Amino acid sequence: MQILGIDVGGSGIKGAPVNIETGELLAERIRIKTPAKAEPEPVAEVVKQIAQSFRWDGPIGIGFPAPIKAGVTTMAANVSEKWIGINADALFTKITGCDCTLVNDADAAGLAEMVFGAGRGQPGTVIMLTLGTGIGTAIFHRGHLLPNTEFGHLEIDGEDAEFRASDAARQREDLSWKKYAKRLNKYLKRMEKLFWPDLFIVGGGISKEHEKFLPLLTIETPVIPAQLLNQAGIVGAALAARKGM
Ligand code: BGC
Repeated sequence: MQILGIDVGGSGIKGAPVNIETGELLAERIRIKTPAKAEPEPVAEVVKQIAQSFRWDGPIGIGFPAPIKAGVTTMAANVSEKWIGINADALFTKITGCDCTLVNDADAAGLAEMVFGAGRGQPGTVIMLTLGTGIGTAIFHRGHLLPNTEFGHLEIDGEDAEFRASDAARQREDLSWKKYAKRLNKYLKRMEKLFWPDLFIVGGGISKEHEKFLPLLTIETPVIPAQLLNQAGIVGAALAARKGM
């Protein structure tokens, strides 16, 4: 079965048709810059543009950086506040003319890693973290997802964890890998003490450079890089649309 997977991010909106049995992208992905302010209609128009470039009229799965409850975006950290409380599923479906299903972006990336990537066959508790504009979290136990966890907003030293330890924070403050690893370590230590996971998987664009910071971490839980890199969000969004989450 083929589903168009879309990953809405703080800086870019990416998409490609996905074979959800194999997790393969069926065409090269398209990336369009996220419209300034990331407001609902302009973002939905970009998704429509991506669907049209693939001449797509089938189902679409959309990973979005907010908790999603029955299609409604309930919070907005790195996108316009206009998303709060709207039925985004219905908006995307209306604008694209295709059947759209929304899922939290980190949940999508985590699903893809659990099915096709670094989390495959991992028993116990696995925490997927996406380090990008924000920090996204997806928590799995025996392969089952607890959706919409928002531990990027865990308060550390009086601030949102993502404000200190996301990849955007690293770039904004021009942190060395050593300094960045120290911050990430502090965050992971807190997560470790709260959840006692068996494994952390680190994804997001920064995972391409995992050799520069993962070896500097000192927590006890194993931390491994994601395998699907920048495809995880697209593949997972397509998977979630099939599951109708
Ligand atoms: C949002 C999450 C999202 C994460 C990664 C956070 O700011 O609140 O919903 O998963 O960023 O994009």
